[in-house]
Amino acid sequence: MKEMYNNLSCTLYLISCLKMKIETSLTMPQLPEALSQAGLQFTVATEEDFDDIMAMSQDIYGGLDYLPTRYTNWLQETNRIVILARKQGKVIALESVCVIDDGETMLVEGLRVAPQERGKGVAGVLLRFCSELVKSKYPDVKVSRLTRDDQLGPKDFQKYRIITKQGILLVRFKAEDLKLRLSDLGLGEHIQSPLSTSFSNTPAVRLDHTAIHRLYLTSDLMQGVLPNSTIIQDWQPFKPLPSNMAILLKKDIDWMVDDVSNPTVASLCTFPIRVPIGDDWYYLNIDMFGKDLDLARQQILCHLQCHTTTLKGYVMCQMFVDPPLWKPMADFCTNTLRVELVKEYTEQCVVESDVV
Ligand SMILES: CC(C)(COP(=O)(O)OP(=O)(O)OC[C@H]1O[C@@H](n2cnc3c(N)ncnc32)[C@H](O)[C@@H]1OP(=O)(O)O)[C@@H](O)C(=O)NCCC(=O)NCCS
Repeated sequence: MKEMYNNLSCTLYLISCLKMKIETSLTMPQLPEALSQAGLQFTVATEEDFDDIMAMSQDIYGGLDYLPTRYTNWLQETNRIVILARKQGKVIALESVCVIDDGETMLVEGLRVAPQERGKGVAGVLLRFCSELVKSKYPDVKVSRLTRDDQLGPKDFQKYRIITKQGILLVRFKAEDLKLRLSDLGLGEHIQSPLSTSFSNTPAVRLDHTAIHRLYLTSDLMQGVLPNSTIIQDWQPFKPLPSNMAILLKKDIDWMVDDVSNPTVASLCTFPIRVPIGDDWYYLNIDMFGKDLDLARQQILCHLQCHTTTLKGYVMCQMFVDPPLWKPMADFCTNTLRVELVKEYTEQCVVESDVV
């Protein structure tokens, strides 16, 4: 079966040279003949497909699937496509591509294949189909990027360059318990900007839009802080460009640095979203850039303080830190904050390949 799909993907590549045909499939999904003969069809996702997509998405990303929360918005974003693969009309896979970095990068997201269809080459064919589709619609696209957290193998290293890596620190807690613990530690509810805690003398500063612009776009100050000049926000890697900033500033994010005039550590905390682990489960994402443990700890505390005041229920908090900070940060979380470590060290890896 895998062999068949691999052959198909070659056929698809040839067919895709007929750009008109691919273009048509975006607005009025039609299939290259060979694919349709193999029983795979591709369609643009719609609101009506939501339940079918959720039905094949159970348990993915360890229960931290963001798609239920983001799906409707994704369908409306002008720089994004969401494509489904179907077999006998049934949804068996999804991939979304978002075009960023001044139109030069296609960012692959949300990729998933129904459990019973995995290991047959479906993801590979879908990736190539979407790539051709995006190339025809956005001719300036030069590279494809994606963020992975699985173990990359030799085949992946042939295909991708690594842009940057972050350690993934996943903890869980009951919001109410953490609120009490923070209070025991002398960290009250009401926080002003600049923010300070007893864990560091240097206050963390929450940035407004003007300060974000100035720091990230008009100065070199973030050069030494960002990993390989990349702003990673909730799995999405952005180059510090005005067009990307327009996307980022529309989102609910708390931006923080230790010092606006000479930053050493910066962080982005994406506001909590519900996740389908169970009732009352939320996902809180904190992307941390920089190598200073005390300052990073300080900012994590500030973000946790801010969000535990409003949250109720249970929280899966995923923090992305410079790899050497993972162990001391994990110790701090378990010993001082007394939250539960969900898994040992894993990595978030931003990879890139050329679009040919
Ligand atoms: C990961 C997953 C999509 C792979 O689907 P699959 O149909 O079994 O994969 P295939 O049989 O096509 O074989 C692997 C192909 O997909 C690619 N692939 C595998 N895992 C991938 C991943 N995590 N991200 C992107 N591409 C991936 C491989 O590079 C390969 O491409 P190639 O054909 O160009 O060599 C599927 O196992 C799945 O749905 N898992 C749960 C959701 C998930 O982890 N998604 C990844 C999000 S980053």
